[in-house]
Amino acid sequence: MYTLDLNTQDFLTHYWQKKPLVIRQAFPNFEDIITSNELAGLACESEISSRVVVTTKNDWEIHQGPFEDYTQFGDKNWQLLVQALNHWYPDATPFIDAFRFIPDWRFDDLMVSFATKGGGVGAHIDNYDVFIVQGEGKRQWTVGNKGNYAKKNNSITTPLIEGFDPIIDVVLEKGDMLYIPPGFPHQGQTLTTAMSYSIGFRAPSQQELFSEIADNLIDNNTGLTRFTSHDEPALAGIISQTHQQGMVDLLQDVLQDPNHYQALLGKVLSQNRFELDICEPEEAYTHQDLLDALTQGASLHRIGGLKVLRVENDISPRLFINGEQIDCSKIEKDNLDSVMSTLTQTLQFDNETSKTLIKTPNISPILLTLLNKGYYYLAL
Ligand code: SIN
Ligand code: CO
Repeated sequence: MYTLDLNTQDFLTHYWQKKPLVIRQAFPNFEDIITSNELAGLACESEISSRVVVTTKNDWEIHQGPFEDYTQFGDKNWQLLVQALNHWYPDATPFIDAFRFIPDWRFDDLMVSFATKGGGVGAHIDNYDVFIVQGEGKRQWTVGNKGNYAKKNNSITTPLIEGFDPIIDVVLEKGDMLYIPPGFPHQGQTLTTAMSYSIGFRAPSQQELFSEIADNLIDNNTGLTRFTSHDEPALAGIISQTHQQGMVDLLQDVLQDPNHYQALLGKVLSQNRFELDICEPEEAYTHQDLLDALTQGASLHRIGGLKVLRVENDISPRLFINGEQIDCSKIEKDNLDSVMSTLTQTLQFDNETSKTLIKTPNISPILLTLLNKGYYYLAL
């Protein structure tokens, strides 16, 4: 159980997406979620995205995983970073749960880092919100104000910047947390061998959304209305202000139709940037298999990182899971809201709740779809 000691309403009003914040003892009595050995072991797996950053005199060297052996890096000035640990390590689920005061669609991943003394990724700016929770060890963090900063060594490709004046300069200890909104430069330096946990949140850009909208219109062969006009400009070589506005209005008509945006948002926002540990059963489960498993005490769990979403005021009863649409129209009207909210809110159903859920008329085909696609599994 990880309890976040934070007034989340106050945080959302005053800090979220606005300004950085240090929260001392955000997790009182914090215990590391994973050991450094287990983390190093997971970074041996090719499906898991990992990297080692080595701090050199005036630069950083990046080694992409998987890693068999860490002796080449010595005993200081390096850091191992493993992305989307929550996809591969179910024990991380209660920790992720503590951050669900922010909607699931925004959640990107849990990145876990093991850093030796002197290790760090260098000063940089992220375009996402991040909470950094300190586990074992001590790290010093500096955060600067938003602004335009010179690229490290004048390189166009580097994600690093030259430096910044700190508005925050703190040493984080076990259980402390730092929140950094997008655009604020920051840098972590490792004082003693340390584990840290970065909980990242992303949001789509106009570019991403427009590209999805265009793909969606093409796939469904919709959005075919053409521009029409009531008047033409006197000069042949001009695109008049009225014509410009008319075309923008045409675009807006598309965006105003829930048929065009609800399914699209559900699909886009329920997808993950990192691979999921999808565990399709060798043989498809039947309704009887499911009942038997629940009688034997099994419980239904979502695989780590899976997003199960619904769109408020949706034009049809459906869930969006990993970019797919799951039809819920067979669920009786009176049960629909509670079933949808149970499925979207609950990460792990205990045996009792699973047994209650399966009693809902017409829920079984949905649960079987989720199990047989490997999105949920039966845990004993
Ligand atoms: C780190 O742990 O040093 C990297 C995390 C970050 O800066 O976002
Ligand atoms: Co960062």
